[in-house]
Amino acid sequence: MFTEIYSSSITGIEGSIVHVEVDVSNGLPAFAIVGLPDNAVRESKERVFSAIKNNGYIFPMKRITVNLAPADLKKEGPWYDLPIAMGLLIASKELSHQSFLSNTLLIGELSLKGDLRPVKGILPMILNAQNQGFDACIVPIENQGEASLVDSISVLPAAHITQVIDHITGTKKITPVKESSIQTVLDSVPCYSEDFSDISGQHSAKRALEIAASGFHNFLLIGPPGSGKTMLAKRFRTILPALAKDEALETSKIYSVRGLFQQSGLMTRRPFRTPHHTASKASLIGGGLLPKPGEISLAHNGVLFLDEMPEFQKSVLETLRQPLEEKKVHLARASHHFIFPSSFLLIGSMNPCPCGYWTDESRPCRCSPFQIQQYRQRISGPLHDRMDMHITVQKIRFQDLQPDLNNEKSDAIKKRVDCAIALQKKRYIKEGFRYNSEIPSTKLSRYCPLEPAAQFLLKEAFDKLAFSARAYHKILRLARTIADLDQKETILEQHVGEAIQYRGQDQE
Ligand SMILES: Nc1ncnc2c1ncn2[C@@H]1O[C@H](COP(=O)(O)OP(=O)(O)OP(=O)(O)O)[C@@H](O)[C@H]1O
Ligand SMILES: [Mg+2]
Ligand SMILES: [Zn+2]
Repeated sequence: MFTEIYSSSITGIEGSIVHVEVDVSNGLPAFAIVGLPDNAVRESKERVFSAIKNNGYIFPMKRITVNLAPADLKKEGPWYDLPIAMGLLIASKELSHQSFLSNTLLIGELSLKGDLRPVKGILPMILNAQNQGFDACIVPIENQGEASLVDSISVLPAAHITQVIDHITGTKKITPVKESSIQTVLDSVPCYSEDFSDISGQHSAKRALEIAASGFHNFLLIGPPGSGKTMLAKRFRTILPALAKDEALETSKIYSVRGLFQQSGLMTRRPFRTPHHTASKASLIGGGLLPKPGEISLAHNGVLFLDEMPEFQKSVLETLRQPLEEKKVHLARASHHFIFPSSFLLIGSMNPCPCGYWTDESRPCRCSPFQIQQYRQRISGPLHDRMDMHITVQKIRFQDLQPDLNNEKSDAIKKRVDCAIALQKKRYIKEGFRYNSEIPSTKLSRYCPLEPAAQFLLKEAFDKLAFSARAYHKILRLARTIADLDQKETILEQHVGEAIQYRGQDQE
């Protein structure tokens, strides 16, 4: 007899429906799985055999063919165990077939005992099933949090194969889990343990970080060892605006595919990724035969922090150029072209020279000009260009290091950031971009009106400091953000003046 069960596959970070067709016919005992399965799918046979046998059901000693359709789509992962097992039991008449299965998605890895194990990629698979009009899905109990984020699809969690069998035969139905409201989950996020008020002094660096957060500008922190660069960068996320519902879902899909489960199934905070400087190209941009998203995609809608940036391999850093520009990464494979979202804010940190003390007046720098040049060149010109702000972090003075109760808290700074972001949201509502750092050069004149004095200052600076066209555009975008923090629609002279300060490296 023949039967058909529905399951799902993952391509990139999107789910697509897979028809699990099972045919059991008379003939010499054989068990074949066709339809481009990978090793984990092929090994399904052994798990399914044991799980059925160990729960008192009869495994058919017949000719079994399982076809995973569409056949041109590569199938990866162990979650076809459950649909294959159910298909087998129905096709061999161990269970009576129920029509509701034509509207239900089955996903789950089986242990030899018949326990259902959690799988990667539940969120995109269930989202796709919902789009395709499925009514229900049976998933491993540990995946129920993730699955229940998707609305208008009934999520039936199961811990063991017998629960699924009882549900299908109608002996005991599984109770659906309550849908979780994404907004409620997002609203109940606890505060960060670290805070901006932990940082003493460093007022100009803090101001710069506030500007960066207000327009999503990439920045590079340059300062001597121990000046607090890492400390500043780690607290940057505490002033970023909260994740919107669609952003949270989009980022969660990436974490789901990588199997980095969150407790609620949802990414509730902007990601902050800090890959080590020994990171490979594949770990940064994504890799594998069927590629999985890398660090830059895990940082989607959040921050990628490259601490000690010149220590990264130059070729690894160069791979960031295209995703920084396009906000997504393309990975070509023979079978398919994969695109992963990677819209992240890049923070880099570095010392001014190899010994670290070039800008430190209290200690002599022992580096030769050639060594300094070589060190700086590890970050290429085009990559430097993609940094909107170069922020100099000065060595902290003793009097600044005393605990100060008046240090502003992250919450207060975040309120101003939120106001600036709200202005941008309103202004760019009909555009394909969201933040000032993303204004295309063709639209700068429209969105960055300058008062005459600001225009004059910019022209003077352009001539005197020999800015490139790209640097000029970056100053305009940055000045736009500074004006937004000031709640001004027209960009004033002081806004341009402050923006120019952050392009110091262009002149060196
Ligand atoms: N402004 C500050 N306020 C309070 N503590 C500070 C400040 N700056 C530095 N510190 C202290 O110094 C330590 C080192 O700072 P941090 O690691 O951020 O320096 P860094 O600039 O990243 O140095 P490196 O170049 O060596 O990586 C911090 O853990 C903190 O204890
Ligand atoms: Mg550091
Ligand atoms: Zn030096």
